[in-house]
Amino acid sequence: MFKKISLPTSKKETYELLITSLKELISNDDCIMSILANTTSLIKYFLKGVSWVGFYLYVDNRLKLGPFQGLPACTTIEIGRGVCGSAFEKEQTIIVKDVRKHTNHIACDADTKSEIVVPLKVNNKMYGVLDLDSYQLARFTKTDQYYLEIVCNIVSQILSSLM
Ligand code: SME
Repeated sequence: MFKKISLPTSKKETYELLITSLKELISNDDCIMSILANTTSLIKYFLKGVSWVGFYLYVDNRLKLGPFQGLPACTTIEIGRGVCGSAFEKEQTIIVKDVRKHTNHIACDADTKSEIVVPLKVNNKMYGVLDLDSYQLARFTKTDQYYLEIVCNIVSQILSSLM
């Protein structure tokens, strides 16, 4: 059973706790979809000001909506399109502080103001992306990038052991 805890106020402590919980939660799971689903749930539980979190997965040469937490979202994103498709193509994390000023942004929820997309590689091949949205401007910083890349590395290691 997942035990709810009182969350720390500092971003660093919150992420440290999220990472410890993530390892406990997904290390012994043997189903890729369950691992991805629980990862999104844990991120949504720990991080304040996140309106949507989910994976887009590389299927048939484009990104398809995977496990997520939040409102229904766009189901297909072409490679290079939107923040997700760009992060996938460039194999780099992208932080968008104000989506209204970012030309290559796909709006799934009109209230979204900022976004971060982190690449997910498995066995050194692009597997998908992790996408977080917020209703706050500039919600995501280099600190989020640092820790969310660790989150994706943990997920990547566990997924690689299942393939
Ligand atoms: N905004 C994303 C699309 C996915 S939704 O935010 C869930 C993008 O520009 O790729």
